[in-house]
Amino acid sequence: MSDGESRKPLPVAVLISGTGRTLKNINDRVSAGQLDVDVRLVVASTAKATGVKFAADAGAPSRVLVRKDFGSDAAYSEAIFTACREAGAELVVLAGWLKLLVVPDDYRNRVVNIHPALIPSFCGKGYYGHHVHQSAIDYGVKMSGCTVHFVNNEYDHGPVILQKAVPVSHEDTADVLAARVFKAECEAFPEAIQLIAEGRVEVDGRVVQVT
Ligand code: GRF
Repeated sequence: MSDGESRKPLPVAVLISGTGRTLKNINDRVSAGQLDVDVRLVVASTAKATGVKFAADAGAPSRVLVRKDFGSDAAYSEAIFTACREAGAELVVLAGWLKLLVVPDDYRNRVVNIHPALIPSFCGKGYYGHHVHQSAIDYGVKMSGCTVHFVNNEYDHGPVILQKAVPVSHEDTADVLAARVFKAECEAFPEAIQLIAEGRVEVDGRVVQVT
């Protein structure tokens, strides 16, 4: 029996704030046998996150936890990570999640995010959605892309796991570039998560090594 056949799927929690296209892509990759994870829980930051509907496809329960119901980022984060622990999640996947998290020690380097630009460009507080792509177009960069990274307590700042680049044309609209980047995201995120599921990702300070 190979390692892949003997290994149990990695239990994950998926956090969403929006349409859940990223969660749907994860579900599709699991169904296609390309991603060895078991989605144990979906957390939405707002009842308006329509992506919650994809939790059922993963056979996972979903919860809505709203920041304003908590006194601080720390209290909010604690409620979220408590739910993740209770679900047995060994990895927390931010899939279009828009709230700042305070990552507890036991989840250090066990929370991953995908950002729709090549970090450290066009990232940080306020850089989300189409603003990221419009900024890249306005700056005149010729390449953009996506970055999968571990999450620390600053927006888009943790160690970089994997990046995929796409070309940018002066004729692009933010919508067109967003679609091109999202196509790259649909490859990059499952690829990075699978590397983690296979135990092939090591973190040394800011530097991630894939073994
Ligand atoms: C993507 O732009 C991704 O880079 C960012 O959130 C967007 C996807 O959100 N993290 P969703 O999956 O459509 O809700």
